[in-house]
Amino acid sequence: MTSILVVDDERSMRDFLKILLVKEGYQVETASGGTQALEKIEQHPFNLIISDIRMDGMGGLELLNTIKEKHPSLPVVMITAFASPDDAVFAMKNGAFDYVSKPFNVDEIKSVISSAVAKGTQSAEDKSISADFPEIIGESREMIRIFEMIQRIAVTPANVLIYGESGTGKELVAQAIHRHSRVADEGFIPITCSAIPEELMESELFGHVKGSFTGAISDKQGLFQLADKGTAFLDEIGELTPIIQIKLLRVLQEREVKPVGGIQVQNVNVRIIAATNKILEEEIMAGRFREDLFYRLAVVPLRVPPLRERKGDVPLLATYFLKKYSKLFGKEVQEMSSYAMEVLMKYDFPGNVRELENIIERGVALESSNIILPESLTLSSFRKGKTESTIQPASPFQVVANEEELFDMGLEELMAETEKRCLAAALKKTDNSKMRAAELLQVSFRSLRYKVKKYDIG
Ligand SMILES: Nc1ncnc2c1ncn2[C@@H]1O[C@H](COP(=O)(O)OP(=O)(O)OP(=O)(O)O)[C@@H](O)[C@H]1O
Ligand SMILES: [Mg+2]
Repeated sequence: MTSILVVDDERSMRDFLKILLVKEGYQVETASGGTQALEKIEQHPFNLIISDIRMDGMGGLELLNTIKEKHPSLPVVMITAFASPDDAVFAMKNGAFDYVSKPFNVDEIKSVISSAVAKGTQSAEDKSISADFPEIIGESREMIRIFEMIQRIAVTPANVLIYGESGTGKELVAQAIHRHSRVADEGFIPITCSAIPEELMESELFGHVKGSFTGAISDKQGLFQLADKGTAFLDEIGELTPIIQIKLLRVLQEREVKPVGGIQVQNVNVRIIAATNKILEEEIMAGRFREDLFYRLAVVPLRVPPLRERKGDVPLLATYFLKKYSKLFGKEVQEMSSYAMEVLMKYDFPGNVRELENIIERGVALESSNIILPESLTLSSFRKGKTESTIQPASPFQVVANEEELFDMGLEELMAETEKRCLAAALKKTDNSKMRAAELLQVSFRSLRYKVKKYDIG
């Protein structure tokens, strides 16, 4: 059952909220001040805290700060007086989930609370699942979905085809699948198909017997023997030649291999994880990849999305690489400047996570102060220009051809159009953060939220 702690120094307010929330099906506790609230929070796992801001003793904002330090993912909704919008702004800046202002609008309270509860439940689940994958950084919805997939498929013996652009983390995902599988104690043997010449490929995959060809001075185990009972990782599978493709298909069908030059077949039990940055369906259409092999490999297809589709992970990854390289280089570079982060958020990373890692590595190496400045970031300028030009003109004045058209639209429509474009531009720039969008446009959070609702944006 969802439990909520209501904190207010006014008894009538506590009672009112308690009655309201109990009717909604929540379990409700109350506290008459910040100190008592903190005690209760330590004793009981609440899903949500609702607290007044102005209270005698420990105020609501101090309570908020303490909660955010100790329980960062516990959502807190603040109650503010209608007359003090600054409190609301301050609370949002300090990590409040949202606020409701007195006098109350019951429907507003109910809707704020149900979304806060949903968010609390979601973020607790997301946190705990991403903790199972410490080597893969990411808390975006896209990455959480991948973690869930990995957990689901890892325990099955099904072959997995991981596809996605270069540098998205396909190899990390492959390793994670193995580590979460039932055969985690057995080998994870990788092979990069493009790196091996065709005449050696067969022996690399299936082994050979001594004397089977010039240079075969002793028996050699191939990938399938080495990975027996464990996992074989076939990277860049799209590069396999037709001859090897058919041999591999046969092994997958028969579950047995014959080493080059050998006469005896060996049974093998290997889980295959393959990866490619090609679209194999296109390779099949072009006659370069066998469809029957594709279906054997892609029992479970898993797409790793490019970084530009999960921009929310950029700050987390950037900070992670920053720590990694300042430690490695023995430098004191502690953080990214907010402007440098903004530059990264605008960039579309054609080389994905690998490129971000390189950018930060270079940035740390070049930076002489203890904070990464935009000047230390080297991004490929071609792509930078491309993202800029897709931004819509902010004012309709730039799109109407002449003044007559302005009069056709009329002042009200023009103003509305302008507002809509400014809002859309600000939300895009801030990755949908209403708080930061309001700052950019220099309006109150409340007014921005109102307009976003009014125009039904985002
Ligand atoms: N989510 C992530 N968290 C931390 N590091 C990552 C993440 N994704 C990728 N990396 C790092 O980026 C680099 C590229 O990752 P990886 O080799 O797994 O990419 P890939 O998809 O296999 O690329 P390619 O197709 O070019 O082989 C590696 O150094 C990897 O450690
Ligand atoms: Mg790779």
